[in-house]
Amino acid sequence: MRHFLTLRDCSADEIHQLLRRATELRDMHRAGQLHQPLQGRVLGMVFEKSSTRTRVSFEAGMAQLGGHALFLSPRDTQLGRGEPVEDTARVISRMVDAVMIRTFGHDMLERFAAYSAAPVINGLSDLCHPCQLLADLQTFTEHRGPITDRRVAWIGDGNNMCHSWIEAAGLLGFDLHIAAPPGYRPEADILALGGERVQLFDDAYAAAEGADLVTTDVWASMGQESEQAAREEAFRGFCVTESLMECAGPEALFMHCLPAHRGEEVEAAVLEGSQSVVWDEAENRLHAQKALLEFLMLPPENGPLHPAD
Ligand code: CP
Ligand code: NVA
Repeated sequence: MRHFLTLRDCSADEIHQLLRRATELRDMHRAGQLHQPLQGRVLGMVFEKSSTRTRVSFEAGMAQLGGHALFLSPRDTQLGRGEPVEDTARVISRMVDAVMIRTFGHDMLERFAAYSAAPVINGLSDLCHPCQLLADLQTFTEHRGPITDRRVAWIGDGNNMCHSWIEAAGLLGFDLHIAAPPGYRPEADILALGGERVQLFDDAYAAAEGADLVTTDVWASMGQESEQAAREEAFRGFCVTESLMECAGPEALFMHCLPAHRGEEVEAAVLEGSQSVVWDEAENRLHAQKALLEFLMLPPENGPLHPAD
């Protein structure tokens, strides 16, 4: 049994295979082809934070694959009334075939996974957001080909999304230039996972120069709402503007995991501009996670990833 708590739970080969499968599933879906290998399977979804994309993509994805998804809010389950994570994990995982969790501390996911009889998927923690990275890598590849040896610029907070980009850079072999203000840089142990592929910059323009992809995220993530004003002050100069995109070049793509705050981390003209692929990126959450669900829920002999791929 496999969990997907961080990108490093997969090898580089497995990530490449998942990305190829995601594009295949996208094409099948667009062609109206019915593909239901997960009939009778159930995904439990525990959301301790809000979500639009993650919830809809997992729920729609399970329905399209012939299975079912259960939305479990801590407000309505005993988890919110203090039932231990370890007990909840042992109970839920005896009834469903996989569990997706969106939570605060990453340790909650690890504790759940340690006691779970079913695969656990990280639907975002304070530490990382690996499902979003699958969609982002799929989107880059569909628009520009393989990401290996290309250059990605991360502008803004060294947060959960930035951490997953660092893991991806180390795993798949591309350069990641991060511009973040002091005090908001990525965690040192995560940074180390990127090795020589990752460089830190003080200046957004220096990081963006010659990038194949410019990407960013909100300045205050879920759980940091009270820091909004201080963060707006600290991140001045770290907005993705049209002039920053010009510095990257006309071929550079723009991505944002969404939801976006126009006028803060990104100008509306960039988000809505011709270099932006944010709507493809959002759609790819569906296809990339369907590939992941097949990978985790089907036995290898019936699964989508073949050694010959
Ligand atoms: N990008 C992302 O995870 O969006 P949601 O918070 O809407 O799920
Ligand atoms: N960094 C953001 C991502 C939201 C999808 C957050 O954690 O709120």
